[in-house]
Amino acid sequence: MQKIIAFSAIEEIGAHIMALLAEKIAGIADNDFVTVALSGGSTPRQIFKYIAANEKGKIIWNKVKLFWGDERCVGPEHDESNFKMTKENLLNHITIPAENVFRIKGENIPADEAKRYSAVVAESVKPINGLPRFDIVLLGLGEDGHTASVFPGNEILFQSANICEAVVHPQTGQQRITLTGSVINNAAAIIFLVTGQGKASVVSRLLNNEAKSTLPAAFVKPVNGELQWLLDSNAASLLH
Ligand code: 6PG
Repeated sequence: MQKIIAFSAIEEIGAHIMALLAEKIAGIADNDFVTVALSGGSTPRQIFKYIAANEKGKIIWNKVKLFWGDERCVGPEHDESNFKMTKENLLNHITIPAENVFRIKGENIPADEAKRYSAVVAESVKPINGLPRFDIVLLGLGEDGHTASVFPGNEILFQSANICEAVVHPQTGQQRITLTGSVINNAAAIIFLVTGQGKASVVSRLLNNEAKSTLPAAFVKPVNGELQWLLDSNAASLLH
C-alpha cells in the first residue's frame, strides 16, 4: 500500500512522523521495542529538529531502538557523519537509553563494519522471511534517485541476501555502509521524507511513473508493509 501526502510545512511532516511513532509504541507488547532505521540528509535533519522540540510527553523513547539506514565511513565527530547530525539535532535533546542507540561505526574498515552492523541488526531487529523487519525505515531521496546509500547502478542491492553492504558514492568516491534494498523492503513502514523544489523533478519521475525504472528509489517496494511519501508542496509541485 502506498500513500502520498503533500504538506504545506515541514513541521506537519514532523508531527506526522511523531504520531506514527507514538502509534507504533502504543501497539507493542510490554517487553518489546519499536525499531527505527534513520536517514541522513537535510530533510531528515529538519524533521529531527522538530521532533526534538515537540516530543516531550509524546514519545516513550525507552520503547524505541534507533538504527541507521546508512552512514558515511567517517568518525562520529566528522561533519559528514549521519550519527553526528542525528546527535546534534535529536539525540542530545531526548531521553533515550544509550543501549537503545545502535550507531554504524563509520571509523571502522568498511567491509568489517558492514559485517559487524549486519550482526547487530540481525540480533536486535526481529526477522520475517529470513531478514530483519524494521518497524519504520526513514528514507531521504537524492536528485539522482538514490536512497539510503543505494546509488544508480547499484540496484542489485535490492536482491542482496545481506543485511548491510559497504559501497562507494559514484561521484565523490566516499565509502559508505548501507542497509540493503532487501532489508529496506522488508520493513513494516517505509517512509520517504522529501522536501524542496530541487526534488520536484525526481519525485515526479518516480510518482508520475515517468521512465523511473533506472532510479534506485523505484525499487523501494515493501514486501509486506506500507510505503509513505511525505512531501512538502515544493517537492510535490510537479505531481499530476
Ligand atoms: C545520506 C542519506 C541520503 C540522503 C539523500 C537526500 O546519508 O546522505 O542517506 O540518502 O537522504 O541524499 O539528502 P538531502 O535531503 O540532503 O537532499
